[in-house]
Amino acid sequence: MFTIGVLASGKGSNLQAIIDQIKTGFLNVKIGVVISDNPQAYALEIARSEKIPAEYIEPGKHKTFLDPNQEKKYVQCLKEHHVELVCLAGFMRVIKKEFFNAYQGRIINIHPSLLPAFRGLEAWKQAIDYGVKFTGCTVHFVEEDIDTGPIVLQAVVPVLSDDSPESLHKRIQEKEHIIYPLAIKLISENNVVVEGRRVMIYED
Ligand code: GAR
Repeated sequence: MFTIGVLASGKGSNLQAIIDQIKTGFLNVKIGVVISDNPQAYALEIARSEKIPAEYIEPGKHKTFLDPNQEKKYVQCLKEHHVELVCLAGFMRVIKKEFFNAYQGRIINIHPSLLPAFRGLEAWKQAIDYGVKFTGCTVHFVEEDIDTGPIVLQAVVPVLSDDSPESLHKRIQEKEHIIYPLAIKLISENNVVVEGRRVMIYED
């Protein structure tokens, strides 16, 4: 069966959405392993309670990216669990060389804005501060530049006058939980072709 690996640093609601869609039968994939750079990540608890292998792998001394030696361990762990597609789900570190060499074109991410707007951290807050009327979320392939890779799917969320950063993020997440499992399904069923920056989707 097509095997994915999920990397998560936080509460793991996207991981939970993926698990839920596997249970409904919508998604015919196996989660080979969940890895976190944060030993307290609730995502690890979710994985353990579902009997999915869950690993904390130390990130090393840097705050924003994995130490090259540690990055090797992440790759090794993903390979050991026969992972074919790496899904970043709130993984808050930049991925570098070691990872790209091993999983070129096979790493995806969910980002809480309509890219290319609002790359980086707290994109929902950036959207409120900028004053846009619509934002949303994006599933994209991961490249070495942050939040720039070819876009697989996007969903739009209106920004309401009385939105707080939290209320907006909550509504964005409702859409993340729909498009992330859908993107994984499309890729796992070979219905996605990348041509330069454009991602073609062929549905049965
Ligand atoms: C999600 O909103 C995801 O889009 C965001 O972190 C959250 C993780 O939530 N990712 C980024 O900001 C990456 N730049 P979760 O732990 O509940 O899945």
